[in-house]
Amino acid sequence: MQNSARPSQLVDEAPFDLAPLRDVWYFASAGRALKRGRTIAKTILGEPLVIGRDAEGKTFALQDLCPHRGMPLSCGRFDGSELECPLHGWRFSTAGECAGIPSLAEGQRFPLSQVRVKSYPTAEVQGNIWVFLGENPIGAPPVPRASEDTDQRLFSMVETMRFRCNLDNAIISLIDPAHGPYVHDIWFWHGRRTAKDKVKLFTPSSFGFTMTSHQTSTNWRAYKLLGGKPETEILFQLPGVRIERTRAGRNLVVNMTAMTPLGDGMVEMNHIVSWTMPWLTVLQPLVKPFVRRFLGQDRDSLEKQQIGLDFARPMLLINDSDTLIKWYYRLKGEYAAARRDGREFVNPVTPRTLRWRT
Ligand code: FES
Ligand SMILES: [Fe+2]
Repeated sequence: MQNSARPSQLVDEAPFDLAPLRDVWYFASAGRALKRGRTIAKTILGEPLVIGRDAEGKTFALQDLCPHRGMPLSCGRFDGSELECPLHGWRFSTAGECAGIPSLAEGQRFPLSQVRVKSYPTAEVQGNIWVFLGENPIGAPPVPRASEDTDQRLFSMVETMRFRCNLDNAIISLIDPAHGPYVHDIWFWHGRRTAKDKVKLFTPSSFGFTMTSHQTSTNWRAYKLLGGKPETEILFQLPGVRIERTRAGRNLVVNMTAMTPLGDGMVEMNHIVSWTMPWLTVLQPLVKPFVRRFLGQDRDSLEKQQIGLDFARPMLLINDSDTLIKWYYRLKGEYAAARRDGREFVNPVTPRTLRWRT
């Protein structure tokens, strides 16, 4: 489709080519994948990171680069309090301060305080570890939570997939209602043959928007097991997190999906399913293949779409089914501008009822 042929009333004024946000929390790891005294290496937004858990259980993240001569610190030892570079043995605290240079001879003085490894804030919330890639998390979108109730005991499983794809496009796939019947046309989901007109109310919420609670459509059989009439709300929050909470009585099941830009055009998708009912845990091995199949459909579809996007970036956003995508770009643009100008973020979303057919 030619860009010049865009009917102006259908497209949005939002800038479509914003760089990935840095001043935000990105999903780094499931908490249980990182034991005390261990580290993992991970690149986020092209930044090599060593993410670790100290002997007390506290998480940290440092640039994975020795300031002496560039050796990745993740290749060295970690004793639960200090990381030791494997090349010349320089030691660093988990805050990135240089704690020792073994090659200094007796009487040689060196201002260790001038040597630092860049450190990044980390947060471990409801079993998930997040890293803040910017300088200061104050005023940033909060660390995503599966449940607002901080006392609620949650069980969870995490599925991770990596693929080559434009980050915005990966995030858009989380909120694009119209791809469902085509990409996820399988027996346990809404196929194209059962498409119906949908009417949904959306309201602004913290750094994003929420599709307000409604009765879950009856063709999702799995939720019948929960007991009680299920109510679902779906939230989207910057930088790219979708949280779907389904309540039935006192029970809660949450599907949270977070996109993390690794760099070099690679995106990592983490899907965290959390639940409050201990008995549901026994079903985990049965549920896992369905989750993987569903996510794999998104991965395959995004990778194929990227083949086309490598040639051009058509962006024709129609009302109402692409409205959420317009909102995504507006939210991202407003947040980037607010950080740049040092002012408070003002949510550009206004309450609205949207109609589409899926
Ligand atoms: S490169 Fe790390 S101590 Fe020399
Ligand atoms: Fe999808």
